[in-house]
Amino acid sequence: MKNETPRPIRLKDYKPPSFLVDTVALDVALDPAHTRVKSRLKMRPNPAAAETGKLQLDGENLELEEVRINGTVVPRSSYEVIPSALILPGMPQERFSLDIVTHVNPDANKALQGLYRSRGIFCTQCEAQGFRRITYFLDRPDVLAKYTTRIEADPELAPVLLSNGNPLERGTAERGKRHYAVWKDPHPKPCYLFALVGGNLSPVASTFRTRSGREVDLRIYVEPGKEDRCAWAMDALKRSMRWDEERFGLEYDLDVFNIVAVSDFNMGAMENKGLNIFNDRLILASPATATDAIYEAIESVVAHEYFHNWTGNRITCRDWFQLCLKEGLTVFRDQEFSADERSRTVQRIADVRQLRTHQFPEDAGPLAHPVRPESYIEINNFYTATVYEKGAELCRMIETIVGREGFRAGMDLYFERHDGEAATVEQFVKCFEDANGCDLKQFRTWYSQAGTPELACALSWDSETKSAALTVEQVLPPTPGEEAKHPLHLPLKVGLISGNGQDIELNLKGAGPLADGVLNVTKPRQTFTFLDVPSRPVPSLLRGLSAPARLKVDLSDGDLEFLLANDSDLFNRWQAANDYAMRTLLRIVEARRSGKRSVRGTGFANALAASVANDGLEAAYRAELLRLPTELDIARELARDVDPEGIFRARRQLLKLVGETLGDVLEDIYQADGDDDRFSPDATSAGRRALRNAALTLLTARGRPADKERLLRHYQSATNMTDASHALFLLAAAGGTDAGDALGDFYARWKDDHLVIDTWFVAQAIAPSATTLQRVRALTKHPLFALTAPNKVRALIGSFASMNPRQFNRPDGGGYNFAVEQVLAIDKFNPQVAARLLGSFRSWRGLEPGRRKEAKRALSRLVKAEGLSRDAIEIATKILE
Ligand code: BES
Ligand code: ZN
Repeated sequence: MKNETPRPIRLKDYKPPSFLVDTVALDVALDPAHTRVKSRLKMRPNPAAAETGKLQLDGENLELEEVRINGTVVPRSSYEVIPSALILPGMPQERFSLDIVTHVNPDANKALQGLYRSRGIFCTQCEAQGFRRITYFLDRPDVLAKYTTRIEADPELAPVLLSNGNPLERGTAERGKRHYAVWKDPHPKPCYLFALVGGNLSPVASTFRTRSGREVDLRIYVEPGKEDRCAWAMDALKRSMRWDEERFGLEYDLDVFNIVAVSDFNMGAMENKGLNIFNDRLILASPATATDAIYEAIESVVAHEYFHNWTGNRITCRDWFQLCLKEGLTVFRDQEFSADERSRTVQRIADVRQLRTHQFPEDAGPLAHPVRPESYIEINNFYTATVYEKGAELCRMIETIVGREGFRAGMDLYFERHDGEAATVEQFVKCFEDANGCDLKQFRTWYSQAGTPELACALSWDSETKSAALTVEQVLPPTPGEEAKHPLHLPLKVGLISGNGQDIELNLKGAGPLADGVLNVTKPRQTFTFLDVPSRPVPSLLRGLSAPARLKVDLSDGDLEFLLANDSDLFNRWQAANDYAMRTLLRIVEARRSGKRSVRGTGFANALAASVANDGLEAAYRAELLRLPTELDIARELARDVDPEGIFRARRQLLKLVGETLGDVLEDIYQADGDDDRFSPDATSAGRRALRNAALTLLTARGRPADKERLLRHYQSATNMTDASHALFLLAAAGGTDAGDALGDFYARWKDDHLVIDTWFVAQAIAPSATTLQRVRALTKHPLFALTAPNKVRALIGSFASMNPRQFNRPDGGGYNFAVEQVLAIDKFNPQVAARLLGSFRSWRGLEPGRRKEAKRALSRLVKAEGLSRDAIEIATKILE
């Protein structure tokens, strides 16, 4: 079988469904290899459809037993079964009921879409198109129905039986050999929100009283023995519920809210109505097993999935092109939640880092697509940083343009108009226009145009008129299939800082005082004039990254030092540190390339020392200042002729210099904030640990004997996983006997914990040493590794390919060949995970010629392989094009 590029699905071809489904009654008899699914659909022709004679139901990997219409068996000769569908011609033109009996094999399902088993637990994943692997259905988000689900199973194998909505009934059958539970969900939903779970699980229970006084039963179901690791997730859930009431006026709408943690899961978590299913790494946490980063991720993912109850579930998407309608908006909401719960500035820095690391390169490479794509081959490939992170930035920009209150008014109108519907981006944006009486016509271009705009800014000051002129030019680089671009409407938040370090009050010529500092940039080139500027100011531009753009502005090292010391906007102060670090690193890379060793980076190191010593700033923020740009950041900035080895060495050089220059400050930080004996995962405590660990990293980079001892002690005396894993990564990166000892110790301690042991895989996969590839290869044969477990694949292979640029990009091409081999092996049973792994090749064209040739060779081998999935074909061909 040769790989043909499958036909794309296009937004412009959208047609309403030919039939509607009012109710779905499922009766599922769970069995590991032979699960029987009976489905009774109450249906009717869609008055809005052009053609309603033929009914085509989606279905994949199903064994069909029987079809009945209004109770009468349909003879086999009267319908057609193809690999992707069940086709019934000549349907009734009034209401009818359709009964379908199918069989599926959960144990054989390693794609982890549809019904499968994870460590013995039956569970489902239906988004985006998994429901069609459970039964024949109109598997599209604009078909909304009310579901009743009866689940039946062997009570020993599956004592707990869960589905969406509220519990209705339970009982036993076959003299206790079977038992069953019935669940009823009163809210109409698309089938991608369906879920079912059966297995031996232990609940951790709590309750929440909604603003209007309803008691909601909250339950988190986990593997027996893990109950003591659920407290943080439960706490995060309650805080999310409260926050959504307070910030958006949104209350929960069922009697129960269940979360189930499973080990084998393609993604992080899923918002199924009333029954969220989570990757267990995003639920389970204790001080000894989880890092602060994991605690933070649990908080934000629990919030994210909970927030979908309104943005995604109550109002869903008309079609998958509108994915950002639920994902971008819900990411924006979870970011805001975290900002309110933690530090707003530090949260914004983290979100911007995420955007720049994942979305900017996507937008600049072969996989670039608009936030609302126009076509796709495999929808699973479009759960991207662009849809999620840039999608969230578009919501944030709307908020910046209409203001916090205007945004709330628009959201209120959105729920008023579209609750219970499958909506479009167009309808969403319209709500903000109508609620605020503003025009977002030009703003809509953000949804349909790919690429990161560049904002070239220049400020001049006129000593005679005492005015400053800011010229802003939009540069819109072309992206695949989109040569000419339209100018965008960007909110540009600015400040002008006078020589004494104070913000100048902005008085915009022709508009007056500019309290929030937001300029509306709409033209390709535009000049804004500020009056009453007594002396030459230093501009602080694109504050808080008020638009997802790249800023180009000519600032001297001195200007950056000034901003780093004085900017009242703490985000931009961090940005100045980051820009200064980046330009220093680029100079070092360039100097080393041309054989010079003269560039050291002393200016940057001194400026950083002064700002980090300021203990009036919160610890988490100071930790951010100390984090130098990553190798990936530097590669992205260089964009062309990238030599990962040179980048690695340049960065190591600067790290060492910063460690040496800041030595005393860093030692003070390290000593002052000793390990607390009582661990608390709150943001302030986590910030202290982050600062101390950042200091440790830089001190270690000096490489003195005392530094090595400090690091060893840090590992040995750690009383929580944050400190232990931080030290483990540093030790593993340094190599040698200390690394071997620490890894051995970690293994002995955690080998029976399937979550914690992933840290052991990661530590080895990201070590920059030349022996890493060989080690990673050997680890794929380790008894605790499994290619069928996505968490293991991400820990070992994923982190090697995406977090170890030096070894993944080995000049001999060994890293590429290894990754391609693994992608090919995984693609045979789990295309979604395979295609994601392939994404680590997306920037291959920017590599220096030698590595570029090797990467291309590996990718070409991949696309020639037989039987490649649609998922992998789509990514591979785009990357190679
Ligand atoms: N709806 C998604 C889960 C999903 C993604 C299902 C792709 C099917 C295909 C869920 O709401 C989600 O976005 N999860 C994220 C985490 C979130 C906090 C960004 C994930 O799983 O990574
Ligand atoms: Zn989501």
